[in-house]
Amino acid sequence: WNTLRGAAAASDRFAGVAVNADKLDDPVYEEIVREQFNSITPENAMKWESVEPERGRYDWAAADRIADYADANGQQLYGHVLVWHSQLPAWLGEGDFDAAELREIMTDHIATEAGRYRGRVDRWDVVNEAFNEDGTFRETVFYDKLGEDYIADAFRAAHKADPEAELYINDYNTDGLGPKSDGMYELVKKLKAEGVPIHGVGFQGHLVLGQEPDSMRANLQRFADLGVDVVVTELDIRMETPATEQKLRQQAREYKAVTDACLAVDRCDGVTVWGASDADSWIPGWFEGEGAALLYDEEYQRKPAYYATRLAF
Ligand code: XIL
Repeated sequence: WNTLRGAAAASDRFAGVAVNADKLDDPVYEEIVREQFNSITPENAMKWESVEPERGRYDWAAADRIADYADANGQQLYGHVLVWHSQLPAWLGEGDFDAAELREIMTDHIATEAGRYRGRVDRWDVVNEAFNEDGTFRETVFYDKLGEDYIADAFRAAHKADPEAELYINDYNTDGLGPKSDGMYELVKKLKAEGVPIHGVGFQGHLVLGQEPDSMRANLQRFADLGVDVVVTELDIRMETPATEQKLRQQAREYKAVTDACLAVDRCDGVTVWGASDADSWIPGWFEGEGAALLYDEEYQRKPAYYATRLAF
């Protein structure tokens, strides 16, 4: 196979990428997204602050463009994200709502957004980053006012709005076995037992070179055994810059290890990388002195990790 999407599809998986609508105007970027990937995730365009900057005023331009792009190019669409404490519009983040009103705001938002893309989104991240590192629930505007029930309520609202979509809960630092993934595991087990419409668990996979967890396969498998699908949703493997040949070779091995872990688990549907190239990556802006985390370099040239991932699929 000479593309990631070809290799992934031959293994009945997807190779996904996070995209930005405005970058699709760049022909080099656009060609990589179209030729190499069979699933796309809007990096920011479907977040609450992007779609509802003022209460009741929606702006779907960027999200629509990405959804149309996926349709035009035979790609699956991974919706990201309905309920998350981050990148909330100011009116919501700073607003002081009582529990009943907040619950209504949340379920209205889900009904509106998931309803708009009904039948077009294959998977939705319904709830993102609900956990602390120790596996307890993160104290967010939603948790503080609504308690842990906000999670089940969000899934029910999403299922009502788009009964065909696969509904995911997503988090970071849950890739391997550990207290945080234990917290996630207990929650998913409970939601399944209660008949809540949850279909998958997303593992973001924001990894640090040299710290790729060797328990990833076992971890993905234990979730699959609960009767949900699993996906690596936001993979990048960052390093201290500048990159060296040696670091890039190690990075290739770690991309292969993550892809292998997914392929070893029947219910692992695919792997999404969090950006097309190192020029598009969120890492340098968020982690000082780190970068070079993706499959293409800043000049859009394929890195060792690209070839290792394609081969692993
Ligand atoms: C990041 C985007 O990549 C950045 O462009 C944005 O400024 C901040 O958010 N976990 C998630 C993603 O679920 O939505 C985040 O994306 C990265 C961490």
